[in-house]
Amino acid sequence: MGTVPTGVRGLDVLLDGGFPQGSAIMIEGAPGTGKTTLGMQFLYYGALKDGEAGFYITFEEFPDQLYADAQALGWDLRKMEREGLLRVISMSPDIFLEHVIDPGGMIEKLIGELNCKRIVVDSISLFRYGTTDEQEHRRMLYRLRNIFRKLGLTSLLIKERGTRKEESGFEAYIADGFIQLQLKEQMDKYRVRTLEILKMRGRRIREGEHIYRMTDNGIRLIPARSMVEDLALLNGQGKVPTGIALLDELLEGGITKGSVYLLDTNSKANYKYLIASVLANRFQAGEKVLALLSSFLTPQDLGKMLALHGLSIGQMAQENNIFFIEHYTRPYPTDCESSVMDVSGLDNRQYREVVQGKITELIEQHSDWFVYYDLNTIIAERGRDYATKYFAEDSAGIKALGMTMLVLCNFSEVGPEVSAFLERTCNGVIRTWVDGAYQYLQVVKSPNGVISEPYVVETTTQAPFMRLT
Ligand SMILES: Nc1ncnc2c1ncn2[C@@H]1O[C@H](COP(=O)(O)OP(=O)(O)OP(=O)(O)O)[C@@H](O)[C@H]1O
Ligand SMILES: [Mg+2]
Repeated sequence: MGTVPTGVRGLDVLLDGGFPQGSAIMIEGAPGTGKTTLGMQFLYYGALKDGEAGFYITFEEFPDQLYADAQALGWDLRKMEREGLLRVISMSPDIFLEHVIDPGGMIEKLIGELNCKRIVVDSISLFRYGTTDEQEHRRMLYRLRNIFRKLGLTSLLIKERGTRKEESGFEAYIADGFIQLQLKEQMDKYRVRTLEILKMRGRRIREGEHIYRMTDNGIRLIPARSMVEDLALLNGQGKVPTGIALLDELLEGGITKGSVYLLDTNSKANYKYLIASVLANRFQAGEKVLALLSSFLTPQDLGKMLALHGLSIGQMAQENNIFFIEHYTRPYPTDCESSVMDVSGLDNRQYREVVQGKITELIEQHSDWFVYYDLNTIIAERGRDYATKYFAEDSAGIKALGMTMLVLCNFSEVGPEVSAFLERTCNGVIRTWVDGAYQYLQVVKSPNGVISEPYVVETTTQAPFMRLT
């Protein structure tokens, strides 16, 4: 399947080149967010750069404003129409539907005449006025999508978003892609326009909200900095599998070396198998592990789980392949004692000195470390302020050394503000939770931009003892 440039360079970056050819993309946004501009820009640049003709259906009775707005952006629509590269059609939604549904009818003829490749419908919200029957509305939209697809058109279906915070309707399910434009209050001081791609069939999407501006040349989108950095930094870096088949597929091979992943979980969810499998795979890849274990995952538990993967925790400690930062005075499996750094009696200043001294020294002796870090323990033992104050610094240090870190944290316990901060700071976020009788797992952020759907976690009898379904 081909790719159709969007007319917005930054958006093409996010979409690996553009919209999938022949797809129907829903563009949703409140009044004034720039939907019409985006639609027109898509057609204008398609005509200008690729010589592809486009169709603009507007339900405005007098489309003069459309021409004037475009002119202000330097787009001469009338000239483009004269050259046979654009057609702006103003009609009522009912008449449009009537014509479009008619095979060989007026719309189809016009599309054929112009050899049209792109179409914008501004806006499908107005279809609602024709019918109050939701079922009928859905069928009609479905039909419209199929007709556009059959005619080989890549379509943008503009949809107004009310001021109510309603869920996006079924339209988003019918469309192949779904892009949301928003005007957001930022820190009570200023407003930013953000674009988010919530769905794009057949495309790996770069997740997150990206800022765009309305400029004298149309829409300009600036892909979020973290994403660009991640791509530059992580491209070509090695991957180490987690050992959980479907998860590795989602992560395109595993956890990227030199990045920080967060595992958001609560004590109800069983994350221990996941941790054990990740650690076993790191050992097998020849990495050393520095572990800060929570009160829920004792050193003995970890020893038992690694044994299920055929690894002896004592032997690894003896060979200096695993070290522990210990906040609770508790028993360790045999042969591990020399690898334990007991920090239980230290205050925050002393602990910081150990981190910056002894631990940094240890880490710098070897190049391949994997750090497993329980942030809940740090918050419980060192306080929230300590955790947030040093988290960014420590993870930046670890990334700078090319090392990988997996951080365990319970988002619902740390609250939305800290969670948002953590999510921004980390390259990847995996979430696992229990709802009713099932445990779920979802990749909500990854350096490749992959967001997965939620999977059910099944327990199995052999390593890695879990499977995603
Ligand atoms: N050069 C520019 N610089 C800054 N803002 C601009 C510029 N050109 C247009 N705008 C703003 O862009 C918005 C219009 O965008 P557009 O008509 O595409 O929005 P829309 O989402 O289609 O709105 P509606 O829902 O009302 O149809 C206006 O708020 C206008 O002030
Ligand atoms: Mg508009």
